[in-house]
Amino acid sequence: MEPICFRPAGSAAPLALPRPVPAQAFRAPKKNIPPTAIERNHILQVVRHYVAEFSPVPPQPAEQLKEYADRVIGMLKCDTIYRDYIGVLINNEIWREHLASVPYERRLLLLPKCLRVENKCPALFDGFGLLCKEDGLCPIQDLQFEAARLGYTCLVTEGSAVVMSLIQTGKIEAIVGVSCLSVLERAFPYMEAAAIPGVAIPLPQDDCIDATVDLDWIWDYIHLTSDDQTRRLDLGALRGEVDFSFTPASLDLIMGPAEGETERIARDWLMRAGKRWRPLLTVSVFQALRDAPGAALPEDLRKIAVAIECFHKASLIHDDIEDNDAERYGEKTLHEEHGLAIALNVGDLLIGEAYRLIAASEITAAQKAEMLAVAAAGQRQLCRGQGAELCWTRSPAPLGSLQVLEIFRQKTAPAFEVALQFGALYAGVGIYAQVAETLSAYSEALGIAYQIRDDLSDLGSQGESNDIAGLRPSLLLAAAHERASMDAHKALTSALWHRQLPAGVATGQIEALYRELKADECAQTLLETYKEEAIQSLRDLENPILKGLLRRVLGKIFNDTEIKGWSKEFEQKNGLPIPPAHSAGTTVSVTASVRH
Ligand code: IPE
Ligand code: MG
Repeated sequence: MEPICFRPAGSAAPLALPRPVPAQAFRAPKKNIPPTAIERNHILQVVRHYVAEFSPVPPQPAEQLKEYADRVIGMLKCDTIYRDYIGVLINNEIWREHLASVPYERRLLLLPKCLRVENKCPALFDGFGLLCKEDGLCPIQDLQFEAARLGYTCLVTEGSAVVMSLIQTGKIEAIVGVSCLSVLERAFPYMEAAAIPGVAIPLPQDDCIDATVDLDWIWDYIHLTSDDQTRRLDLGALRGEVDFSFTPASLDLIMGPAEGETERIARDWLMRAGKRWRPLLTVSVFQALRDAPGAALPEDLRKIAVAIECFHKASLIHDDIEDNDAERYGEKTLHEEHGLAIALNVGDLLIGEAYRLIAASEITAAQKAEMLAVAAAGQRQLCRGQGAELCWTRSPAPLGSLQVLEIFRQKTAPAFEVALQFGALYAGVGIYAQVAETLSAYSEALGIAYQIRDDLSDLGSQGESNDIAGLRPSLLLAAAHERASMDAHKALTSALWHRQLPAGVATGQIEALYRELKADECAQTLLETYKEEAIQSLRDLENPILKGLLRRVLGKIFNDTEIKGWSKEFEQKNGLPIPPAHSAGTTVSVTASVRH
């Protein structure tokens, strides 16, 4: 077989597999905690509205909190079993502004031991708590690192005696604590008596083994300061703005009216559907980096956001042709609908539209020149990645997992990278220079994780347009092939790599084999590994707003298991407004109702 160069000359170092991060099995919370993060986020939002309206003065006694909780339960029409949980959230909000006014150096972050991955953590405990070995295995390390960077005292312990003695020294003036509800309840009277501002993030489980927690909440609380801008970055509102940009009237304003049949087809394709992650990344990064992160989105930025989506949608048209896919978004692909020639041409038009919009934007010539370079590099990389996959089909042969991941890096990461870099460039060439490297590392990990998730989503999906049915290089096939030890299994995976589907073998059987060989688990571990890699890439980022944003974005992009969790049943039972389609399954904004 002709050797395939998967990496263009001059590109970054070869892909080395990061330390694997085991997937956290979903663990149902205790019954007095709302089951999904979506529901918990919604409740938090309602609590914020409530506290903002009545602004009770802290400390509030437990009985009073219960009364407030009952009122919120009445507003939510949710189960009274959540009273204690809601009480904790109300107390947090009541203390919020006080916590914000305490300098980081006078705050304590208390983390529970059970956030560790129990059977893997090599750390020891001393009288003060856990001595972390910084092995990258658990969220504790990341939080500890960030808290320490800010100046916090950080303790991983359950011992309340240590905490009380720290309070008595007078060095600690506020606490951010993570614990199970029962521990929080016991600690509450002490905190009330000492009138120490404290927010508490309840653990959904209380069995002290490999607990999970709403990490975004801890992240938001530990960064809280009086002049904090992070919480003004309202991702939910930005999502609304981005979706609005793609409505027909708005697109007419941004691009000018579509003229002629070809432009109309292109415009229709641009509006039709899609998750619009890439333009959301662009506007979010700009909002995080600009001088006034809370200010309204500049109208001119919409041109750049639409340009980003034009590039992406053009690549999808061409990808569907190259892959011979008949469906996208549950509808006909463009070439199925209009024929190959028209679809190709519409894809080309959209690339032209993207450049036209960049040129029309009111940014400086230097910004435009950099955007041009970034877009060209991204397009080039994407075509090389796509090309590696397409050239492989000329004489297909087995690829290893790393080779497949390398293709992912090249074909999926560039669109994210261009989107992120454009947001930074819109903020200024100097600002871009400071963050470009981090954004590049982040998008690489994000792109790989995104494509792994796409592979995993093919499992069990009925459509013929997936990589399993299409016999395209997939991580699942690579993992299955690497793991197959029985001759019959190896023969089947080899045949699949050679794009031969033995007679009588259906897609369902291939999927069953993938599961039997645990290829899905393997891919799941790699997904977690690259999500963690994306978080780690932010380590040295100095801008806390951008750092917080990029963390929250990961939660949003990869939380769609919870889209299913946000059931109509739950909404009806609890009388909640049905979230608009775009925000279903994403982290409900925790910033909208905060008074400034
Ligand atoms: C499709 O991207 C191509 C992949 C990288 C899997 P998206 O799944 O983000 O496509 P849209 O934006 O929702 O159309
Ligand atoms: Mg493809």
